[in-house]
Amino acid sequence: MTKGRGVFITFEGNEGSGKSTQMRLLVERLRAEGHDVLESQEPGGSPIGLKVRGILLDPANSELSPTAELLLMFAARAQNVDQWILPALSAGRIVVSDRFTDSSLAYQGAGRGLGSEIVLETDRIACRGLVPDLTICVDIDVEEGLHRAHSRNRDTGATDTRLDEEAVEFYKKARAAYHRIAEEEPERFKLVDGSPSIDAVADAIWAIVSARLPRT
Ligand code: TYD
Repeated sequence: MTKGRGVFITFEGNEGSGKSTQMRLLVERLRAEGHDVLESQEPGGSPIGLKVRGILLDPANSELSPTAELLLMFAARAQNVDQWILPALSAGRIVVSDRFTDSSLAYQGAGRGLGSEIVLETDRIACRGLVPDLTICVDIDVEEGLHRAHSRNRDTGATDTRLDEEAVEFYKKARAAYHRIAEEEPERFKLVDGSPSIDAVADAIWAIVSARLPRT
């Protein structure tokens, strides 16, 4: 970790991987150990980011073009970076974000077929060199994950969002992109098997994260 700076951890994973549950458990554990943690989410996070999220997830916006989708994802991200993430890291806090640029590489770059170059170019404008110190990608078979996600929506009465309505092939491309990133950046990007019990996955994640933390 860079000296005098906080730690930036991101969570990634395909639908139904249990990523958000695991992120919540990690944040609870970090706080219990005395760390000062800022939680963020993408698309969303800041109040302005949440308004952009509304546009992105609204099933009525079926005409949204892939490039417009990419730029909106990064508009929300740029706002989070400036308003929340950089100030928190400067103050030495731990920032944990549910998704970040790797999601754009997986979903817009691979899923939509825009390619990683365009995504990384947009990242240079929006994030200005900010890269997570550590990324936990909760990995699960695409069909199993979609099954879990749809039954969760049914149980909670939640309606599917615009991005929940993609074909299986789209999510398979996204998952393959995550696997490629893990091969290219093994130090930063850690794939964690999401199929065991919630507690077992949480322990595997804690083993990775705790090894990277500054002492409290
Ligand atoms: P959300 O309801 O937050 O789902 P999840 O629990 O899977 O994170 O919806 C976010 C959706 O947006 C999700 O399908 C992934 C997608 N997404 C992108 O396509 N590109 C991005 O850059 C980000 C951050 C998310």
